[in-house]
Amino acid sequence: MSTTLYGGASHRRVTILDLRAAKERGEKWPMLTSYEQMTAAIFDEAGIPVLLVGDSAGNNFLGEENTIPVTVDDLIPLTRAVVRGSSRAMVVADLPFGSYESSPEQALATATRFFKEAGAMAVKLEGAHIATIEKLTASGIPVMGHLGLTPQSLHQLGGYKVQGRDDGDAVLAAALALEKAGAFALVLELVPAELAARISAALAIPTIGIGAGAQCDAQVLVWTDMAGFTAKPPKLAKAYRNMRADLLAATQEFAADVRTGTFPTETQTFH
Ligand code: KIV
Repeated sequence: MSTTLYGGASHRRVTILDLRAAKERGEKWPMLTSYEQMTAAIFDEAGIPVLLVGDSAGNNFLGEENTIPVTVDDLIPLTRAVVRGSSRAMVVADLPFGSYESSPEQALATATRFFKEAGAMAVKLEGAHIATIEKLTASGIPVMGHLGLTPQSLHQLGGYKVQGRDDGDAVLAAALALEKAGAFALVLELVPAELAARISAALAIPTIGIGAGAQCDAQVLVWTDMAGFTAKPPKLAKAYRNMRADLLAATQEFAADVRTGTFPTETQTFH
């Protein structure tokens, strides 16, 4: 087992055991979403140990307003591309809204498709579906939980609001139940930092925060927010570059070069 999750020469994928060991060492780690092969390859090269093919593909890749319309058939080719584009990261596929809530059997059938058709190494699902997590893990499918703001329940929650301010004990109880059911990690989205710290201290499995403060064991960002592609990023995100501005400028330069006849030059010409 590698002693760090970051970079370095390692000729195998990160596993759930590596993540558990990182928590025991107190090593924090980053997770990013990815929806296709180019970013998967770059994030893998950067040493990101876990790539999430999130249903945030809905509003960051597929042109939807939110994650609700995303389907299994939408995410399977994206997951396959991320698996093919990476060689070291563990690739986690999000189970889309409507593909797992009916029963543990429905969830197993969906997760099995992500494993067989796309090569996913784990799945993520929103909410405290304890029997489902037990069924999947007993069937050999690692499960990442997701509590706090669960965007698939956007309409039930009444919007993208901070969760757990008044019912922090209930969120903690759900987190403990998820761990007991076999989840290997837990995303905490948009919860007070103090609550996320309590949960992180109470669990042996790593917590992955997004808008959940600095005390989580790992942090996740939607990659388009991280890279500055999103025109109006949410408060929980940090843009490390302004790639939107860079891509816009590159596109405008290309267009101007074509209009003025300065592209192609002799370098790009065959005789
Ligand atoms: O779909 C997604 O990208 C997510 C992350 C924000 C955790 O669920």
